[in-house]
Amino acid sequence: MEKIVSLCKRRGFVFQSSEIYGGLASTWDYGPLGSELKRNVKEAWWKAVVHHRDDVVGLDASILMDSKVWEASGHTKNFHDVLVDCKQCKKRFREDHIKDNKCPACGKTDFTEGRAFNLMFKTQLGAVAGENSDAYLRPETAQGIFVNFKNVIDSTSRRLPFGIAQIGKSFRNEVTAGNFTFRMREFEQMELEFFTSPQDADKFYSQWINERFQWYQDYGIKKENLQLREHPKDELAHYAKGCTDVEYRFPFGWSELEGIANRADFDLKQHADFSKKDLQYHDQINNKKFYPYVIEPSGGVDRATLAFLVDSYHEEEVEGKTRVVLRLHKALAPIKVAILPLLKKNTDIVNLAKNIKKELQKSFVCVYNDTAAIGKLYRRQDEVGTCYCVTVDVDSLQDKQVTVRDRDTMVQDRIAIDQLQTYLTEKLKY
Ligand code: GAP
Repeated sequence: MEKIVSLCKRRGFVFQSSEIYGGLASTWDYGPLGSELKRNVKEAWWKAVVHHRDDVVGLDASILMDSKVWEASGHTKNFHDVLVDCKQCKKRFREDHIKDNKCPACGKTDFTEGRAFNLMFKTQLGAVAGENSDAYLRPETAQGIFVNFKNVIDSTSRRLPFGIAQIGKSFRNEVTAGNFTFRMREFEQMELEFFTSPQDADKFYSQWINERFQWYQDYGIKKENLQLREHPKDELAHYAKGCTDVEYRFPFGWSELEGIANRADFDLKQHADFSKKDLQYHDQINNKKFYPYVIEPSGGVDRATLAFLVDSYHEEEVEGKTRVVLRLHKALAPIKVAILPLLKKNTDIVNLAKNIKKELQKSFVCVYNDTAAIGKLYRRQDEVGTCYCVTVDVDSLQDKQVTVRDRDTMVQDRIAIDQLQTYLTEKLKY
């Protein structure tokens, strides 16, 4: 894990938030490469869950919602961790993280009674503090979907089964920090609420578990590093009838990437109760009204991004030296093409290289780099997962060809400049 954390900082994937002030615990900033990678992860999810299907539409709801939303959803009452303090070393822990009744810090076994600690961040709306202006930063994006269920039906004429998908920030005042971007206080979720008749809920629950398990593999995660784990009854969230996690074998152990839950009709019923609005679905064919069941695949953008980074990280021996390479799926790689002039003092080569970049960047995310010798430049691009390096040399000025090097095979092809766009388009198809 240290190698990933160090690469992330050194090459601009992830920085500690507020670092110059000492760093704010459990918050992280994505740097130039990290923000590209994360965008690509979200794009890949949106394609699979929304654009490549006929039965899902998107939504972008606000982070601040009426505080009654969280009463109805059960978060005000139930969304807490139970905390205990070690009487010996005074450190605080989540009760469910204590193993064999031993303090993880000092090993003693004397704890205070458990106390509930709500994970929602409270804030206030407007200038006057008071009961009516209390609000929370949303702890999940899901509720934005439930409260818009009627709006989406009315504006799109969707019939069951169909889903509403959303990607956005969520906030939780997590007690235990650590494991880099795995557990953060501010993070992004990719959530789908898939509405179905109660009769079809089990079928779609299984389908979505399979689809989501496959998605991580489609984007390059090795199957042996993924597993499904069904929650036992006593572990289920207050709303869930069933839940299965997709877990990844992180360097710190198997941990949750995503949960696929059967939320039954809990949320729509609760919001109907609290808002006094009719949120039932009208089945016009059978002239019946009922609350749909909901299957919810809910994943973390940051956890997926971290898993893609960890899984793609490789070290290999090349000519007696260690080559670090991120074998990221081409769709996820932050940079698709690097354009490298062989001699930075030769202005003709530099100009040609810059002109090539100008053309290619209309189609691909490109960088130009002339800050080191070619061997070093290749190594730097491998380390951040750049798919192809295009090298412009003295011969290029005469033969109008460049060398294109493949990240994974390191094979180099000589390609005519006027064929470069076509060549790369073919290679970067995904
Ligand atoms: N709407 C259901 C829900 O929010 P969850 O299991 O609490 O379920 C879903 O969260 C996903 O969100 C998790 O599988 C994880 O990927 C991500 N997630 C949750 N808490 C997180 C945190 N503190 N930091 C980063 N990601 C988190």
